[in-house]
Parts: sequence; C-alpha cells; structure tokens
Amino acid sequence: MFDVEERLTLDERSAVDFVLGLRKRWADTVYPALREEYGATGASATTVADAGQVLRGLPLYPWFSHLERVQQKMLWKVAGDAVLSRREELTGQLTSLPEQPKGSLELNPDLELPDWYTDYDIHIQPGSFFSDDMSAYVYEFGARIVMLRDNDGYKFHTLFAQTALPELPAATRIVDIGCGFGKSTRPLPAKYPTAQVIGVDLAAPGLRLAHAEAEATGVAIDYRQADGRATGIEADSCDVVTGTMVLHEMPATAIRETIVEAARLLKPGGSLRFLEFMLTGDPLRDATVYEHAERNNEPFFHDLFGSDLIEVCTEAGLTDVSWTPFDERRNGVQPQGWGDRPEWHFPWAVLAATKPEA
Ligand SMILES: C[S@@+](CC[C@H](N)C(=O)[O-])C[C@H]1O[C@@H](n2cnc3c(N)ncnc32)[C@H](O)[C@@H]1O
Repeated sequence: MFDVEERLTLDERSAVDFVLGLRKRWADTVYPALREEYGATGASATTVADAGQVLRGLPLYPWFSHLERVQQKMLWKVAGDAVLSRREELTGQLTSLPEQPKGSLELNPDLELPDWYTDYDIHIQPGSFFSDDMSAYVYEFGARIVMLRDNDGYKFHTLFAQTALPELPAATRIVDIGCGFGKSTRPLPAKYPTAQVIGVDLAAPGLRLAHAEAEATGVAIDYRQADGRATGIEADSCDVVTGTMVLHEMPATAIRETIVEAARLLKPGGSLRFLEFMLTGDPLRDATVYEHAERNNEPFFHDLFGSDLIEVCTEAGLTDVSWTPFDERRNGVQPQGWGDRPEWHFPWAVLAATKPEA
C-alpha cells in the first residue's frame, strides 16, 4: 500500500511541516511562556477552576488558545486536501486484498451509531471519522501530526503494548475496543502470537483501512464493526481487553457500559488496560487540559475526568484497579508520575484492573 505522505508535492510537504512546526512551538514555547506569565501573577490556585480563572486573564492566553484551535483546523485542511486529491487510488487500495487474508473484516451496516457519536465533528475533523472512507486516511494522516510524529511506525502504541500490557505466553484472545484505523491493534499480534486479536470500532471507514493495512503486511487481525458497549464477543473469553484513547470520547454512561462490557469479556484472571488521560495535579496544566476539550471538540473529556473509574471498575466486579501515568518520551508506564515536563503534553495514564478468579 502506498502512504499519502510518501507522495506529497513540495507545496503539500511545506504545508504539513508548517503545521507540525506550529504545533511544536505552541507546546514547547508558547505554553512555557504562558506558565511564566501565570507564575508572575503570584497566583496560588489549588483547584483547576481557580487556575482557569487566572489563566483566562493572562495577556498571552488569547494567543495560546487561538493557536491551539487554529493549528488543529489547519491540520485537517492539509491532511484533507492531500487525501481527497488521491481518492481514486486510495479507494482502490482499500479493496485490493490478498486472496488468502490472514485476518478478517466484519462490517455491520445495520449498526446504529449513537447520537453522541455522530452529533459532533470530533477533534474538529470535518465530517468526523465515520462518514466517508477517506475520513480514515485523513485521520491517520492528521494523527501523526497531533502526536508530533512521536507515533510514526506505531512507536507510541508499541510502547503501550510493551510496558502496560501483561506478558501472557499462552493467551488465546485479546480485544482492542475503539481500534480506529488499527494503530492500537497492530502491535498486539507480535505481543500475543498465540492469541486471536480482535479490533472493534463503531466506524466502518477506520475498520476498512485497518484491515487493508494489516493484510498488506500479513498481520492476522479480525476487525469487527460493533459498539464497545455491546461487542457481541463471547463472555469470559479474553485474556486482555484493552483500548487506547477511546473512553474520553464517550459520555459518562457509555464509559461505564464499556467497562462493564470489558469485564464481561474477560476470562477470570484476565486483565483490563485502557490508555486515557488523567489530571496531573498541577492546577494550571490541568486547566489547559480541560480547555483542550472545548478547543478540540472533545465534548466528553470532562465526563472522563468527572467519572471515578476506580469505582466504576470495582462496581463492574474488577479488582486491583489502578491509574498509572504513561509518558511516551520516557519509556511508557511511569509509576513515579510524569515528572517535570516543561512543554504542554497529553497527560496519558493507564487504567488497569483484573477480573478475579472464579
Ligand atoms: C481517538 S480514536 C482512538 C483509536 C485508536 N485506539 C488509537 O489509539 O489510535 C477513538 C476511536 O474510538 C471509537 N469509538 C468511540 N466510541 C466507541 C464505542 N462506543 N465503541 C467502539 N468504538 C468507539 C471511534 O470511532 C474512534 O475510532
């Protein structure tokens, strides 16, 4: 399969580099400058709400917040233009599959997508991620820039698989809920060579791309279109149920239902692992993370922070529930915390739990 990025014209490449550069400067220069302004006020806020109030009065704040939103819009423009101008070729490669596929693709055209999923252009991506086959390519392209290229070659998700998922040499089934275009699922067959790996998502375009890319490289994954709250997968059949960056896209009730479904799927002794965000405890940093939700069209981010997932997992019958920070620049799981990172970053964290033995 060809990668759109390998075929960019000079103009397209320049546009991508500009957006990437803008994003980096916003995170590593504008954010620290904002912190400096905040420090100079002498504010001693202890809550996110108080820090947010001081933040909104800072001279640099309008610039900081404008840049965050505008670079996201620019990102979709450059990714969208690059993908849509190659629609025919890209559509062709979604359907040119090997005669003997290693994995499978099961789409469900009758699956009803929830309103909370279709009502918003998540991440400001025009048309969102479920509407058109090209939206998966656009998202794949845009996500590389959002991750500041730290996830090129599945680096980030491989680090998650290596440091957050348990070693299980005889695993038989692993499920990835909210697998998108397969970025989070792809490292799983190498981690669990004895297991059937299933990726589940609501969005058919993402699954088509995930399937085509897995087959193009001979990786055996079964992709299914289903709601993570009701996957249709057999109860007590999974060694690990995982998901990355998915819970924060759901309202609180759906988060709860997804955890309950994950608990249902796990074998006794099986492990739940979700990569999500956590507040860091630094009120100013957390205020900017809160506001990222509005600026990036993430309507349920606050539902994640407002849900006590330790309690939700416990109520779902799981034990050994914990949150552990995850730092993509410092070798993954970080029991000691994120440390002192001067730049703006996503406060990743791993939610872990175990289904007790019967
Ligand atoms: C931010 S993407 C993450 C994709 C992938 N896990 C990754 O780390 O790149 C969130 C994905 O979750 C999917 N999603 C959201 N709610 C879902 C649900 N209830 N059931 C299944 N998938 C869902 C979206 O369609 C999207 O593909």
